[in-house]
Amino acid sequence: MLSWDDFDTQPQQTKKSAEPRPAPETLQKEVTESAASYEAHSAPASPAAQSKAAPAEATSAVEAARAAVAELDPAPGLEELEMGAARIQVDEKRIINCRADLNQLVPFKYDWAWQKYLDGCANHWMPQEVNMNKDVSMWKDPEGLTEDERRIVEYSLGYFSTADSLVANNLVLAIYRHITNPECRQYILRQSFEEAIHTHAYQYCVESLGMDEGEVFNMYREVPSVAKKAAWSLSHTQSIGDPTFKTGTPEADQELLRNLIAFYAVTEGIFFYCGFSQILSMGRRNKMTGVAEQFQYILRDESMHLNFGIDVINQIKLENPHLWTEEFKQEVTQMILEGMELEVAYARDTMPRGVLGMNAAMMEEYLHFIANRRLSQLGLKEQFPGAQNPFPWMSEIMDLRKEKNFFETRVIEYQTGGALQW
Ligand SMILES: [Fe+2]
Ligand SMILES: [Fe+2]
Repeated sequence: MLSWDDFDTQPQQTKKSAEPRPAPETLQKEVTESAASYEAHSAPASPAAQSKAAPAEATSAVEAARAAVAELDPAPGLEELEMGAARIQVDEKRIINCRADLNQLVPFKYDWAWQKYLDGCANHWMPQEVNMNKDVSMWKDPEGLTEDERRIVEYSLGYFSTADSLVANNLVLAIYRHITNPECRQYILRQSFEEAIHTHAYQYCVESLGMDEGEVFNMYREVPSVAKKAAWSLSHTQSIGDPTFKTGTPEADQELLRNLIAFYAVTEGIFFYCGFSQILSMGRRNKMTGVAEQFQYILRDESMHLNFGIDVINQIKLENPHLWTEEFKQEVTQMILEGMELEVAYARDTMPRGVLGMNAAMMEEYLHFIANRRLSQLGLKEQFPGAQNPFPWMSEIMDLRKEKNFFETRVIEYQTGGALQW
């Protein structure tokens, strides 16, 4: 366990006689990060101490640091502010195209975004906590799984091992800078870390089972039904990820909405559902229970990502009603249906025959139900009237309120396990 004492054992002399560092940015960072060190450097040294203890190059480094700090421009933030440097008012906050200071988290305007950030933190988990021993013996036993069941494990790890990287990259390289609200950004930062945990979980499964990692991680380029889903997501990240892309025109703002719908409503809201229900059905039949447990925690995170994305999209619609034209609604409806078609093709490819109490036709019905749900969440007309959910147990698994005790235990462990001793 870390203790602050660990940081205080280095003799002060070591710092004073450190090599000179000419870059003012580095010096400034060091000064900011270490208040104690800054005090030592800044205090006026007695002439005797200066001549005896401080070599000439150290003195010039101190002077360079003082000069850099004196010249520091106090204008805040990386982003251009049009409302000056005043304390922000809640009414100035907007999800996109906001010019108020984005470094001031409060006052909150979108309590739902902050609440989701808190809920995400309360549900923290790590892949190594899941015992994989039973899975390893079942995977290595030639009689452990049928060929069709093995295919499902391989395809699921093949698609998801890279899909979460696509989502994470889209968040940090494309979406983040265009969402101009600090409480939403706070959630996006939490979500980004959760995506890293998910990629870690898939890597952990691949490693535990001794699978060919190159084959699994390159499946999104090699297997058509997997590659098409990844390509569809990637096609919606390119324009937003362009460093010259800027919101502020109806066309650009609609392009951002396309990205949010492609990733939150389709990638995380449709593309994950066949694989998740297959693996969770396997776990319900007492097969590959470690892999299934990993997927169960991931699904809980994902259902929150989806809900956050739907709230963001609907809030942008509310604040910018001119974007939500009839033509655009038709386009978004088609995007949802394209996603569903790709997922149905994936279902057929992964289930050439009935397996685990499900088959491709049941999955198609389920995906009609899911597509209806996404359309109605976005305020659009359902396209498959009367579609039913053949897997009602999936809804129960996604419900965060179930098995709350499990998470309560973990929350306590994390809060004490990570604490510093003062
Ligand atoms: Fe994820
Ligand atoms: Fe996600």
